[in-house]
Amino acid sequence: MLLPETALDSRPERMSEASARKTPVRMTTATLDQSNVSRSAAEIAEQSKKVVTRDVDFFYGAKQALYKVSLDVPEHCVTALIGPSGCGKSTFLRCLNRMNDMIDDTTVRGEILLDGKNVYRRGTDVVELRKRVGMVFQKSNPFPKSIYENVAYGPRVAGVRKRNILDEIVEKSLRQSALWDEVQDRLYDSALQLSGGQQQRLCIARALATNPDVLLMDEPASALDPKSTAAVEDLIFGLKKSYTIAIVTHNMQQAARVSDQTAFFYEGHLIEVGATNELFTNPYEKQTEDYITGRFG
Ligand SMILES: Nc1ncnc2c1ncn2[C@@H]1O[C@H](COP(=O)(O)OP(=O)(O)OP(=O)(O)O)[C@@H](O)[C@H]1O
Ligand SMILES: [Mg+2]
Repeated sequence: MLLPETALDSRPERMSEASARKTPVRMTTATLDQSNVSRSAAEIAEQSKKVVTRDVDFFYGAKQALYKVSLDVPEHCVTALIGPSGCGKSTFLRCLNRMNDMIDDTTVRGEILLDGKNVYRRGTDVVELRKRVGMVFQKSNPFPKSIYENVAYGPRVAGVRKRNILDEIVEKSLRQSALWDEVQDRLYDSALQLSGGQQQRLCIARALATNPDVLLMDEPASALDPKSTAAVEDLIFGLKKSYTIAIVTHNMQQAARVSDQTAFFYEGHLIEVGATNELFTNPYEKQTEDYITGRFG
């Protein structure tokens, strides 16, 4: 059946309308600054989809927190999840590596595929899944152990015993998380002596040490000062060459700076997803526009 012409025309019209009246967007500068490094919609479309979710509903007891969320997370891209407090961003992120399993009386429905396989299928090795889909939390949470032992922890649990291999993993992970130069002479000092920004990068190193494919980051820089935030953002940008990243952030400039694709959540619904440059300059949905221009949230 042919669509009525008006339906076919509605998107271009909406776009030209918006650009004609110069949609109020606070992030224009940041967005343009990154235009040479963030991926275009066409490039994102070309990437294979590392994680695919279809019609995901999530419940805490009887309370529904996610409604039919269908989102593709493209490989080697950074996907930012934005939206007001309580809209389900963390819940969604935790579904991807089944971290929500640890919360009693929760129900998930729909499909969550990692490389085409449903992570909720019977027989999934959840420990293995969480190695492949690592997570970094808002509040850095190093173990009360040495810097070295924090990074070596995951590989040790996975059965790596040889000291030279552990040494290699620790150095590689600390280099990847841009911390090596600052800590190479104090690897056996307590991780708790590091600054907040260093602790957060250590937690990123700890997540990288198990050689994940996907890195989930829940507001990783929200407790950091501007310098540490910049360090973590630079790091995220570098990491996407090797990893697929999903990051929750309340900071619109940060989403514009680090991500290729942005997904806007509101009250448990995925309202809109698109290439970051496009979503921030030309959102399709009024709710998205209101949120990114600071009218609520
Ligand atoms: N452990 C839990 N038990 C019951 N309800 C929860 C639990 N965790 C989250 N919720 C509820 O689920 C909804 C979504 O919460 P979620 O933490 O995913 O939001 P969020 O978008 O990450 O918010 P924020 O930006 O404040 O971190 C909220 O209504 C919240 O109260
Ligand atoms: Mg949250």
